[in-house]
Amino acid sequence: MADLLLGLQWGDEGKGKIVDVLTSNYDIIARFQGGPNAGHTLEFDGIKHVLRTIPSGIFHSNSINIIGNGVVIDPVVFKSEIDGLSKFNIDLKSRLILSRKAHLILPTHRLLDAASETAKGKAKIGSTLKGIGPTYMDKTGRNGLRIGDIELSDFKERYRALAEKHQAMIKFYDVNIQYNLAELEKEFFEAVEALKQFTFIDSEAYLHDAQKAGKTILCEGAQGSLLDVDFGTYPFVTSSNTTAAGACTGLGIAPNKIKEVYGIFKAYTTRVGSGPFPTEDFGEAGDIMAKVGNEFGSVTGRKRRCGWLDLVALKYAVQINGVTQLMMMKGDVLSGFDTLKVATAYQYQGKEIDHLPYNIEPENVSPVYKEFKGWKADLTGMHSYDELPSELKSYIEFIEKEVEVPIKIVSVGPDRKQTIMR
Ligand code: IMP
Repeated sequence: MADLLLGLQWGDEGKGKIVDVLTSNYDIIARFQGGPNAGHTLEFDGIKHVLRTIPSGIFHSNSINIIGNGVVIDPVVFKSEIDGLSKFNIDLKSRLILSRKAHLILPTHRLLDAASETAKGKAKIGSTLKGIGPTYMDKTGRNGLRIGDIELSDFKERYRALAEKHQAMIKFYDVNIQYNLAELEKEFFEAVEALKQFTFIDSEAYLHDAQKAGKTILCEGAQGSLLDVDFGTYPFVTSSNTTAAGACTGLGIAPNKIKEVYGIFKAYTTRVGSGPFPTEDFGEAGDIMAKVGNEFGSVTGRKRRCGWLDLVALKYAVQINGVTQLMMMKGDVLSGFDTLKVATAYQYQGKEIDHLPYNIEPENVSPVYKEFKGWKADLTGMHSYDELPSELKSYIEFIEKEVEVPIKIVSVGPDRKQTIMR
């Protein structure tokens, strides 16, 4: 059996912290989609570390970490992650394994991402520019290169054919993208050599055998449900299935083998990049959330847009993923507000609706809010649910009632220890 952990909003919910907290219960942690657009932040013993492609179980000595077939890997970012982990003395080579079917991000994929975004002008997605979209396009277009191709004798020729095609495409965009391909390729092929020290596996077979042997597996999602290419706020989404189904296609785990689905959400909402965000707050409240919550992208450093919790969107994500347990992050950031707001419905075409419609652009929907009394207490040193202020308990219990799923973890700070289990 496998359990699944996903973000329910627009990413940055704090998945890295929770995977890290839960890891001791699992033999295997497996990433199933996305790539180095992710930045999973872990904090423990005064150390802060951001993981990009490597699963968040890497700091626990008893877990095997798998990068599944649904992930896209940039060897250059991967190598820098490996180099960054060297100071922790982790036996990476025995604890980190890669699917042969995972696709490779080429330097020209990154350039294509930049060309495509520049050509879009004002309509740009706000991509992290890590080459994610172009790599998934090559995957579904059946042109991509995979980890397993590195083992083939003609890998360099295959690389060259694809890179040349990309160069022609970059020209087609007719935008001014400056690059030195020779330098980028040198870095790429050095990183590919570093990648070769790791074990490449047929991960679906490995995970099948692991399940038969009774091993416990945690599938780690990246980004969030509202960035899913099918169910998110298209076209302002990422290029993979960030929802539960992505774990099946991105690892080869059958749907009936998934047991618990842990849904992670922030006590408020953030979004980075372009696209609709009905509960965005452009005033003081949004600024306070950004400041207190340190809402700056862990990959790009961009300031995140902030706003109130949106229960319409949260319910939608819970339904699509079949969430069985909720985990609420960053409750501590809301301390100090006199009043909190939560969107419980949308005004849409003259009616009040409680589901997410096709178009949630501001001219189509406006949120209907319920207000809650805030609390002043600092939560960051609290260790049990009983200690939490009664106003926060009312907030939590209201969410549970609306969404019909229990909130099992309340996080009150970035450190592993600042985690309240219910
Ligand atoms: P891309 O996946 O880099 O192409 O970015 C597409 C959209 O998803 C942009 O709005 C990004 O800001 C957003 N995005 C991608 N990855 C993450 C993430 O890990 N956290 C939050 N937003 C993300």
